[in-house]
Amino acid sequence: MNRVTLRVYARRLYNPNMEKNRYAVILAAGKGSRMKSKRDDVSKVSYPILGVPLLRYVMDALSACGVNRLVTILGFGGETSKKIAEGRSEIVWQKEQKGSGHAVMMAAPLLEGKEGETIVCCGDTPLLRGETLRNLFEFHEKNHNSLTILTFEAQNPKGYGRIVRENGLVQAIVEQKDLVGEQHDITEVNAGVYVFSNKELFEALKHITTDNAAGEYYLTDVISIFVKSGLKVDGYKAYDPIEMSGINDRVQLASAAKAMQRRINENLMLSGVTIEDPDTAYIGPCVEIGPDTVIKANTHLLGETKIGEECIIGPNSYVEDSTIGDYAIVSFSHIVESKLQRGSQIGPFARIRRGSIVREKAHIGNFVELKNTDFGNGSKAMHLSYLGDIAVGSSVNIGCGTIVANYDGVNKFHSEIGDGSFIGSGSTIISPIKIGSEAFVAAGSTITDDVQANDLAIARGRQVNKPGYAKALRERAMAKKDK
Ligand code: UD1
Ligand code: CA
Repeated sequence: MNRVTLRVYARRLYNPNMEKNRYAVILAAGKGSRMKSKRDDVSKVSYPILGVPLLRYVMDALSACGVNRLVTILGFGGETSKKIAEGRSEIVWQKEQKGSGHAVMMAAPLLEGKEGETIVCCGDTPLLRGETLRNLFEFHEKNHNSLTILTFEAQNPKGYGRIVRENGLVQAIVEQKDLVGEQHDITEVNAGVYVFSNKELFEALKHITTDNAAGEYYLTDVISIFVKSGLKVDGYKAYDPIEMSGINDRVQLASAAKAMQRRINENLMLSGVTIEDPDTAYIGPCVEIGPDTVIKANTHLLGETKIGEECIIGPNSYVEDSTIGDYAIVSFSHIVESKLQRGSQIGPFARIRRGSIVREKAHIGNFVELKNTDFGNGSKAMHLSYLGDIAVGSSVNIGCGTIVANYDGVNKFHSEIGDGSFIGSGSTIISPIKIGSEAFVAAGSTITDDVQANDLAIARGRQVNKPGYAKALRERAMAKKDK
């Protein structure tokens, strides 16, 4: 169970409000035409911020606010969204995009007639916090509302639905295209997030029409239907308009990414991590970092990465889906799907590829590449090597320029080097090979046969010196030139 599910689970046990069912509908069928993509198989909500698709941020926020049934409405480019939502959300298709109200109607077969509350939000608002949604639900329940709309004061309300109030309570939402007269002056706008009494929502959806400037089924028309039926409709004003930012184009994608980066980095700094230059530290939302670790400039830490205490990571490093133990040092290096144990040192200029483990206090130096390699405690490969599909024991020295030839063009082969062995510079190990412990491979050897423990292997042409022959060669060459 991850931390988020644990938190949700704990809240269900202790929060009396949770006796009420909380449903969620995420609207994610829209085309996102302002992204100006030439591809028709990529949905807007699958664009990433710090390696995580927009839709996942929204799903995480909803899970953190105690929702127990999640339905995502997919349409344009929906196969990419489906991969993101699958396993975490039920999926409903809206084949033709006839408006936000029409999109919610698609969830009727799953939710219609059910007792409980339904939160509706968009899949393109990654900055929404779980905490804000939780407060919205609490406000809704405390005030016995039938519908609560998340609103905010917009500096530039253009494009948003305007909140029309009377005696404090909300009467209607009027879309930009349908504004008349003084409605143009309203600055309180619809964030596009709502909590509805579920039964009443699906009842009201039966009565909305396409009789508006856009010719769409507006979800926002449900508001006046609620009001006319005498149901209590209220607005909950959020503090931080940044959270409401929807992503419609790539400029907004970049500015939301900046805001998310700032939020993540500030949380980490307040928890004891030093970030040398937060503007150039790109840290994903699932990354965990221990206290007193220093993140240096130009560093990407992405995916399910976990970093221990008192490490130094960067500058100029990239770490994805990897685990790094306490006191490790990584500089100018690229690390993917690997484990670096306590006190290991990587780089500068190393590449650690998937499935590798660098054990305690081992050193991987400059221009060394590891792939699917288990590199033992205290072992060293300091310069210019490739180690692929090999298990290296502890306290092994891999000389400069050692190459493991693990591939014959068709198959990959596995090799082993025992504890305490010494591999001389410029050696080639042609896999599969077993080298025993405390063995010695002479520099420049090409190893094609196994080496037993404590043996010395030399596999190279024997040296022959010819006295004075260099001079003779030179004289012969000069004589040719004079002719
Ligand atoms: C909507 C609201 C507006 C609010 C704004 C906040 C309506 C009618 N208006 O406007 O009051 O201020 O959000 O950002 O809802 N979608 C579908 N299927 C469709 C149409 C839309 O799934 O057929 C999805 C879109 O992918 C999007 C969401 O619904 O996630 C909102 O639709 P959009 O057309 O972007 O509405 P806005 O004009 O932004
Ligand atoms: Ca929108």
